[in-house]
Amino acid sequence: MRRIGVVTAGGDAPGMNAAIRAIVRSAIHHGLEVIGIERGYAGLIEGRYRILDRRSVGGIINLGGTILRSIRSEEIKTDEGIQRAADFLKSIGIEGLVTIGGDGTFKGASRLYRVSGIPIIGIPATIDNDVAGTDTTIGFDTAVNVAVNAIDKIRDTATSHERTFVIEVMGRRRGFIALEVGLAGGAEVVLIPEIKVDLDRVCDIIMEDRREGKVSSIVVMAEGAGDSRHVANYIASKTGQEVRLTVLGHIQRGGSPTARSRILACEFGHKAVELLLTGEKKRMVGIRGSEITSVDLDYSWMVEKELDLSRYKLIEILK
Ligand code: F6P
Repeated sequence: MRRIGVVTAGGDAPGMNAAIRAIVRSAIHHGLEVIGIERGYAGLIEGRYRILDRRSVGGIINLGGTILRSIRSEEIKTDEGIQRAADFLKSIGIEGLVTIGGDGTFKGASRLYRVSGIPIIGIPATIDNDVAGTDTTIGFDTAVNVAVNAIDKIRDTATSHERTFVIEVMGRRRGFIALEVGLAGGAEVVLIPEIKVDLDRVCDIIMEDRREGKVSSIVVMAEGAGDSRHVANYIASKTGQEVRLTVLGHIQRGGSPTARSRILACEFGHKAVELLLTGEKKRMVGIRGSEITSVDLDYSWMVEKELDLSRYKLIEILK
């Protein structure tokens, strides 16, 4: 193997740049040349790329976003798009590809492997942490910390005004961010797509808390758990309290990665290159406990990752 490619796809995640840096420098250490595919999977179809040397990835370990950029592509989901991507990779002599992203990215990567035969290693990077086969993903820890910092600030003003806040965090299908953020932020209630909660029960919890002397309440809600504006309005009308809604949105996807996200990126990037060099064809790097591992790439998007529901119970006890 002489030349490998690297691409970032799907929603960006803080730490993607640290992963690119790790792949480039590990690959060069082993005598490989690295091509960076630009604009995500769209760039695979358009044939957009540049050579990445050691210096080109200097000063990026601390940067959010992705220097290679990531454009969501509909075309890559078609047979024609996959074929064009395969043809392009072959035309520039790519003998192995590292793809950095989430479950959608890996679904596309599996198809690309089947059509092109080019070995592909996935690196899980999504703030959502909804990828099976790894305890955690690059960017998740950063997003959680961004949201917890925001909640700490909101709590100050909520208490001053004796208000309830509904705070919507990202996670369109899963509640990993909401659960982590709810526990770390001391939320009174957490709403996630995996557990249906009666809104009247939420109102009861808030009112019981007030009777006990609590002066503010925080409801953390995953975006996939429903309409946050409706939830805020419902609580206001049922409890007679002042309720405000804050949607944290894309703030959670940006900013400098935490040490945890960076270290994960360094380890995942290095492992991905090693897997290519040992002849692996279709794997995703992951972490189990403190061990860097790998699973079949298909496992990452075919299997639904389990949520730790003991966290949910703990929030109810500690609130
Ligand atoms: O998958 C990551 C994620 O940030 C989700 O949490 C969110 O629902 C989605 O991407 C938003 O996507 P976009 O940036 O395309 O609106």
